[in-house]
Amino acid sequence: MPRTIETRVTEEDKKIETSLRPQTLSSYIGQSQIKEGVSIAIEAAKARGEALDHVLLYGPPGLGKTTLAGILSNEMGTHLKVTSGPAIEKSAEMAAILNSLQEGDLLFIDEIHRLNRQVEEVLYPAMEDFCIDVIIGKDSSSSSRSVRLPLPHFTLVGATTRAGLLTAPLRDRFGLIYKLEFYTVPELTQIIMASADKLEVTISLDGAKELARRSRGTPRLANRILKRVRDYAQVRYDGAITGEIAVEALDMMAVDRLGLDHVDRNILSTIIKKFDGGPVGLDTLAAATGEDPGTIEDVYEPYLVLNGFINRTPKGRVATDNAYRHMGL
Ligand SMILES: Nc1ncnc2c1ncn2[C@@H]1O[C@H](COP(=O)(O)OP(=O)(O)O)[C@@H](O)[C@H]1O
Ligand SMILES: [Mg+2]
Repeated sequence: MPRTIETRVTEEDKKIETSLRPQTLSSYIGQSQIKEGVSIAIEAAKARGEALDHVLLYGPPGLGKTTLAGILSNEMGTHLKVTSGPAIEKSAEMAAILNSLQEGDLLFIDEIHRLNRQVEEVLYPAMEDFCIDVIIGKDSSSSSRSVRLPLPHFTLVGATTRAGLLTAPLRDRFGLIYKLEFYTVPELTQIIMASADKLEVTISLDGAKELARRSRGTPRLANRILKRVRDYAQVRYDGAITGEIAVEALDMMAVDRLGLDHVDRNILSTIIKKFDGGPVGLDTLAAATGEDPGTIEDVYEPYLVLNGFINRTPKGRVATDNAYRHMGL
């Protein structure tokens, strides 16, 4: 099975992503409701001379959470400090990071659902009252006591693919909570045209639309596919991407007509072949496909449901006629 295009992040993505990331809210395409909410919050915070409210961004990978965090810091004109849930193991490390912040700074914690409980508890007073509790003296000795230290007013931006896994006390401390949506074909077309411009690739509107249709609603995949097709157009043709060249290249790379990757296809064919089209429960489906249930639910299923390949019923997941047709079964 060719694994040419994957939904997950690859090393290859990381290299190009930095250069393709939009830097301003106006060059951030789509997600219009989020942009509207965010721009009001930014303007209000600036007018009051305060830090922006804490922001939680959630949704499948590759939809622009990290990009948006960078834009928030640019638009607010503050420093950006980046870390991630699994990178912080001890509460002292979290305290040290918070202590290093300056007034108004933006702290981005990626995969925030993976913070452990002790570390998370440091965040509660930090987010709510801008302070941390420090224990002075030996942990067990009777002379030890807790002291509150003030922190600068900062903004925490948390990102997660799994909003459902966040604890209530953490979730409740975010003033702004946004769910990122899959992008439409016209939006992805615009993103591809903008990226082609930055990469100095010539692409026709037809070519961009063809790539957009096969990008699984995801800008990260759109950029990855653009790079691959550019290489193909360079080697086989004069470098310019037309609609026809796009179709030829994508078919050769076995990119699904709708951009489904091998995991999407495995999920559909498992429901159809092993479970007679369903209904099949999430855990059973996960075991049969060798995927993690949470990953299926948060990363793969939303796109399959959005495109009418899977229905979620009380008894489990069911493959639609559309899924049978798409899989040629
Ligand atoms: N709204 C957008 N407009 C233009 N490009 C975008 C947008 N969202 C994401 N991208 C592109 O997709 C890539 C992946 O986005 P990223 O923010 O890393 O996703 P996430 O953090 O949600 O996994 C970025 O490098 C950027 O080039
Ligand atoms: Mg990210």
